[in-house]
Amino acid sequence: MGFMGAGKTVTGEKLAQALGFVFLDLDHALESMAGMTIRRVFEIHGEPWFRTRESELLKGTAALGNAVVSLGGGTFVSEENRMFVKQHGVSVYLDVPFEVLARRLEGKTVERPVFRSLEEARLLFEARVPCYKMADWVLPVAESESVTAVVERLADLLGTSRTPGGGGAKACAT
Ligand code: S3P
Repeated sequence: MGFMGAGKTVTGEKLAQALGFVFLDLDHALESMAGMTIRRVFEIHGEPWFRTRESELLKGTAALGNAVVSLGGGTFVSEENRMFVKQHGVSVYLDVPFEVLARRLEGKTVERPVFRSLEEARLLFEARVPCYKMADWVLPVAESESVTAVVERLADLLGTSRTPGGGGAKACAT
């Protein structure tokens, strides 16, 4: 998990391939369930509806067995969702600096309704980082790092130890 543009989907998919696990992207699952894009979901049903469905889908992942799940950028902000992830899996925060995310998202914010402006996104990012840092693992990702390299580091991290490293943060409130 991590902020928009962190590479959650592409990294999660490759990690699942490497581990031979099932892969599920929560946003894609929600779009399939709703039969429309996330943007449309926000327009028609509003964010609270989206968050409820997101949480339900997250809980449904318990039935998947060995799986890699890419969360949405806001999934881990909910305490209930965090508790679920803690109980059922190992969480990794893909820690990408905001400047890198902002560059990556340039021109690609239309499909991301919570990215209203660069300044708002920066504030959202700053408010969320303490939540993200409650992940079992925090993986700093450099701009120059390839997805393959990130996946290798992730596989090592998850394979060598089942004892979480801990992100350090004890509480977050957004
Ligand atoms: C959101 C991030 C999006 C998607 C929705 C809300 C957020 O996912 O879940 O637009 O609150 O940060 P990505 O992080 O995959 O873009």
